[in-house]
Amino acid sequence: MSIRIPRGTQDILPGQVEKWQYIEMKARDLCRRFQYQEIRTPIFEHTELFQRGVGDTTDIVQKEMYTFEDRGKRSLTLRPEGTAPVVRSFIENKMYGNASQPVKLYYMGPMFRYERPQAGRYRQFVQFGVEAMGSADPAIDAEVISLAVSLYKELGLKKLKVVLNSLGDKESRSAHREALIAHFQPRIGEFCSDCQNRLEKNPMRILDCKQDRDHELMKTAPSILDYLNDESRAYFEKVQSYLTALNIEFVVDSNLVRGLDYYNHTAFEIMSDAEGFGAITTLCGGGRYNGLAEQLGGPETPGIGFALSIERLISALDAEGITLPVNETLDCYLVSLGEEAKDYTVQLLYKLRKEGFSAERDYLDRKVKAQFKAADRLNAKFVAVLGDDELKENKISVKNMESGEQVELDLASFVEKFKEIYQ
Ligand code: HAM
Repeated sequence: MSIRIPRGTQDILPGQVEKWQYIEMKARDLCRRFQYQEIRTPIFEHTELFQRGVGDTTDIVQKEMYTFEDRGKRSLTLRPEGTAPVVRSFIENKMYGNASQPVKLYYMGPMFRYERPQAGRYRQFVQFGVEAMGSADPAIDAEVISLAVSLYKELGLKKLKVVLNSLGDKESRSAHREALIAHFQPRIGEFCSDCQNRLEKNPMRILDCKQDRDHELMKTAPSILDYLNDESRAYFEKVQSYLTALNIEFVVDSNLVRGLDYYNHTAFEIMSDAEGFGAITTLCGGGRYNGLAEQLGGPETPGIGFALSIERLISALDAEGITLPVNETLDCYLVSLGEEAKDYTVQLLYKLRKEGFSAERDYLDRKVKAQFKAADRLNAKFVAVLGDDELKENKISVKNMESGEQVELDLASFVEKFKEIYQ
């Protein structure tokens, strides 16, 4: 039996990969404009980083991590997300001491979660994410949200919904926590075992339970927005007013709790409203994590960020019928006729490529007609034809495949002349 690709992973083949490259290029360009710099952290980290960072009670840590012991008996984990690794690196490299604060970083790379694979849910997926650390200015919350929205909009997506919530500061959360415990405790026996565990450890996560979402107590659960203290409320109002100033439409949903433990204040998700998108409509998620650096052993540092997967972004583009303007043309295809001419194209091809042109020739001993067909398949803008006779006369003929125009050029100065006719 032949070996197949692991469940929940995918090969991104030529024809598809150009879309990925285009999106990656757009994301990098946005980060340049928004002044976020790239950071690359390892694919695996010490397991403890995610236990402490993402949180012991989360689905990610409890059920979804690819954890293994290496030969040195260390417990390592393939990263399920990028925030904890970036904050670890921020602390380890003492970036808090840099003159340029806040530290604004972005990353793009594979993440791993042992989830039940379905449309839009993979076991290996690529996240593009940003993290801004060192500022507690609500303007940076709006900046981070607007960066994500800009990526989607600039790629052509229209059916977007920004959902916003505030999880408040420590004080607000602990007041809300008490209210949630009082609300659920009398009837916690009617909830799943996960929720029963969550009641004491992290009752807010009950609100995010997929199994119990229709329980009547869910609808009447105390809303975090009623427990925000003055400071948290003022912060949340400021974020909203900045988003309004940026013309970013959003809805406030107090049930948006997010699946990771490190959040406080701003939490947000961007969903696709496109018809036929499927069950999983969340394209992007993020929020503020002011206590995370401290929790990981660093100095108190406010932070905010988001992550989105390229897989879901591509699904959203497909659902809205958007094709990306990917450049799939070849500058020049060299057709040869005769043995000597064929040999000569080896150096000609190399010269064209050295000058920056994309160029190709035949490697299968095809007849002239089949070589032209190959040039067509590659979307060649120009086809240069060299026969043994032309070679003797030191000439080469070049055809513009769009206009049909044909010229004869001097072979010795072909590449220089080609530069002139190439527009
Ligand atoms: P998250 O909500 O777990 O947050 O994931 C963020 C995004 O990653 C999701 O909205 C989705 O686009 C994508 N994603 C997650 N799981 C999968 C999957 N199995 N297959 C395909 N795509 C997936 C985080 O990861 C946080 N680190 C975000 C963050 C950054 N918060 C602050 N800074």
